[in-house]
Amino acid sequence: MRILLLGSGGREHAISWKIAQSSMLDELFIAPGNAGTRLHGKNVPINPLNFDEVKKFVIDQDIDMVVVGPEEPLVNGIADFFLSDEQIKKIPVIGPNKIAAQLEGSKDFAKQFMHRHNIPTAKYGTFSKESLNEGLRFLDNMKSPYVLKADGLAAGKGVLIINDLNEAKSELTAILSEDKFGVAGQKVVIEQFLKGIELSVFIITDGDSYKLLPEAKDYKRIGEGDTGLNTGGMGAISPVPFADSGFMDKIQNQIIIPTVKGLKQDGIDYKGFIFFGLINVKGDPYVIEYNCRMGDPETEVVMPRLKSDLLDLLEGVATNTLSERDIQFVDKAAATVMMVSGGYPENYKKGQQIYGLNTVTESIVFHAGTTSDGPTVLSSGGRVLAVTSFGKTLDVALQRTYKSLNDIEFQNAYYRKDIGFDVL
Ligand code: AMP
Ligand code: GLY
Repeated sequence: MRILLLGSGGREHAISWKIAQSSMLDELFIAPGNAGTRLHGKNVPINPLNFDEVKKFVIDQDIDMVVVGPEEPLVNGIADFFLSDEQIKKIPVIGPNKIAAQLEGSKDFAKQFMHRHNIPTAKYGTFSKESLNEGLRFLDNMKSPYVLKADGLAAGKGVLIINDLNEAKSELTAILSEDKFGVAGQKVVIEQFLKGIELSVFIITDGDSYKLLPEAKDYKRIGEGDTGLNTGGMGAISPVPFADSGFMDKIQNQIIIPTVKGLKQDGIDYKGFIFFGLINVKGDPYVIEYNCRMGDPETEVVMPRLKSDLLDLLEGVATNTLSERDIQFVDKAAATVMMVSGGYPENYKKGQQIYGLNTVTESIVFHAGTTSDGPTVLSSGGRVLAVTSFGKTLDVALQRTYKSLNDIEFQNAYYRKDIGFDVL
């Protein structure tokens, strides 16, 4: 098969690494990719949001399947674009269509969906500029802390958790009347605060059946002990020790099966990955959010723990034969730690030369934000590298990763030294 993978982060490096191992692969292209993905295929300078450019490439290169990494092309309708074009309608896109991607693209859509299908989630209300006063009254009747979520995509910055009622009211006003989050904040979801421990669960589905992928736990805050600003994710582990078979059964029965069935019932044809952002509240799972793609850095532990051929599974999605495919996991723990640019998630420098990449032997170094200048690898983002290791236990996997991190260097590099601290 000739595959085009869209995206350029650590997630896409991990997916390209996995696809490259498939016996079904003829050639892999990554658009635009990074200095890591070029080890597994050919990087092509195409913007995944420019669908006409993607189409031209797909035709010129005789591509058999397009795999979409990030959410934006999906929420913008890349799957619909393919389906509505005579020349490319037969080429499968792995990733949901525009309506299905609203599970991530609109928090209000996701909440209504969960409400309709009895899927456990926090109680909520949705408000717009016109209903600001109702929103303020709604806050009066909620308990602290107050959770405010911009309805649309806000690059991970659209969720505010506020202790003080008056501050929550002024933030709600700022989002709805002063466009604090632009169009993403035209509606705001106000939610009950759920207390518990989070985990990320993934499936791949062809719209009828699904396969569960290895679960993971992400560490989102910049500081040790889960303190400081929210980031895209600073590390991840898989499996998740508290996700025992009883808890995973609850997740499948109360959340995953109702989601897949609910989509079907609503006439939404979902083909691709679903990422369930969940929270364990006293032994019961609740949905915090849906994403229409894989997680990052979770993918950097999920792909290594997938034993089966990823292209075989993706072909099952494309041809509606996923139920006939086999899925197996690697029976080892995996851990990844993100090496980021000092200053991230606020201001940081790009273009720092990275040293020591070739000295790492016990880990897989996934590139998240890198570019290359000949053989030289330079940082090009806040999250730069995700260093993944296997171990018989999580402890061992983490020790290997931290040992490898010692051998890699760039100016002002930072990483959390406590990934896994809460579950070990
Ligand atoms: P989201 O973008 O929806 O994943 O929200 C970002 C983060 O905010 C989540 O990972 C949670 O840590 C936190 N969060 C979101 N909603 C809630 C909630 N209802 N209760 C507690 N924490 C929440
Ligand atoms: N790691 C969380 C996300 O990908 O949204």
